[in-house]
Amino acid sequence: MKLQRIGIAVGSVLGVCALAWAQQMGATAALKPTTGNTTAGTVTFTQKGDKVSVTANVSGLSPGPHGFHIHEKGDCSAGDGMSAGGHFNPTGKPHGDPATADHHAGDMPQLVADARGKATLAADLSPVTIGAGANDIVGKAVIVHKDPDDFKTQPTGNSGARVACGVIKKS
Ligand code: CU
Ligand code: ZN
Repeated sequence: MKLQRIGIAVGSVLGVCALAWAQQMGATAALKPTTGNTTAGTVTFTQKGDKVSVTANVSGLSPGPHGFHIHEKGDCSAGDGMSAGGHFNPTGKPHGDPATADHHAGDMPQLVADARGKATLAADLSPVTIGAGANDIVGKAVIVHKDPDDFKTQPTGNSGARVACGVIKKS
């Protein structure tokens, strides 16, 4: 009887730990500059219920807004970042502002750099997940662009050259 109780107690503790671990699921991308650029930084993703929150700290930008997306291939090997492919779009939507209903799953709010070329961002993303399902961003890439995202031009937002790239890895 006593052993059974201990068994239940241990089981409960393990269950709570597993739940806490699932809620803490995260992923990180270390942004490295593409050829001829100096943009670098860290992007962190955390699963919170059915949303994923993103935080970014990026330096080496020109002042002002920059297109910022999750791209479909976790491949930053090309000097110009083109190996990362197009925007991550598992739901087959047009490119758009992530604050509106229709947008690529990989479309994120723009990075806005200050006069010293630094940008920070904190936002909630949907519909993406970390480590499960068709909308899983692990193994994809984060790209920072030279120019602003107009959130209209298809399928890119016309945000120009790719100045930094980082593969998203489970953390
Ligand atoms: Cu992009
Ligand atoms: Zn897009």
